[in-house]
Amino acid sequence: MKLELIPQVTSKVPCHFLNMYKPQALKAACHFLTHEKSIIRQLLGLNPQINNVVVIGSGPMAYLSLVQEYNKKYVGIDPYFPIKTMNNQSIYYLEHGFEDIERNQIPTGPCLYVFWFNVFHYVKAPAQTINRLSQPGDMVLHSTWSAHPEADFHMKSYFREVYRDSQLNYQHAITEIRTKNNDLNLTSNLNGIIHDEHYENNINCCDVFYL
Ligand SMILES: C[S@@+](CC[C@H](N)C(=O)[O-])C[C@H]1O[C@@H](n2cnc3c(N)ncnc32)[C@H](O)[C@@H]1O
Repeated sequence: MKLELIPQVTSKVPCHFLNMYKPQALKAACHFLTHEKSIIRQLLGLNPQINNVVVIGSGPMAYLSLVQEYNKKYVGIDPYFPIKTMNNQSIYYLEHGFEDIERNQIPTGPCLYVFWFNVFHYVKAPAQTINRLSQPGDMVLHSTWSAHPEADFHMKSYFREVYRDSQLNYQHAITEIRTKNNDLNLTSNLNGIIHDEHYENNINCCDVFYL
């Protein structure tokens, strides 16, 4: 049977989440996403032991084809973008916030948890949830905007598209993201880190934790 992957847009999706996947917003974020994608490729190439790629805030199944290229199981987690048909044991969709997930909903084997595209900002208690779910051998990728001034230019264009109906939310989102990134300190808050790496360019930065 042909696999059908059609995100159902439900009425509960907040408008700014829908706007994030529109072409103008994705165009504004394209340099960010290109760097992030290259890091994911690098990690999957270097870590063949990874069995599952868990994409948090997966929206319309972000990076599904990339994950399939590497023959990994894909687990998309997002409270707002349910997938219509799922008939493949290598693709899972969990219609929840990340903070509500239980480990038994994710296939067994080492996981790469991908917090793509600054999704950390929206997750409640992200470090505590990772500590609850993760197992030795798992990896975590946290991808967010770089602190470089050039990132501010791209962030502003992106959030203008996302919050185009509300100037207030757009300014607020940028301030909150900057503050939350300063407060996160995953290196101190994640349990069992055996090694961490940092990849950064002028727009995007990715922290990788090996657990
Ligand atoms: C990938 S993030 C993109 C964030 C955006 N680039 C920014 O900088 O604000 C957006 C996705 O996260 C999802 N999302 C929102 N809250 C979530 C949560 N608690 N757990 C998992 N995904 C969530 C949304 O539905 C949306 O598809």
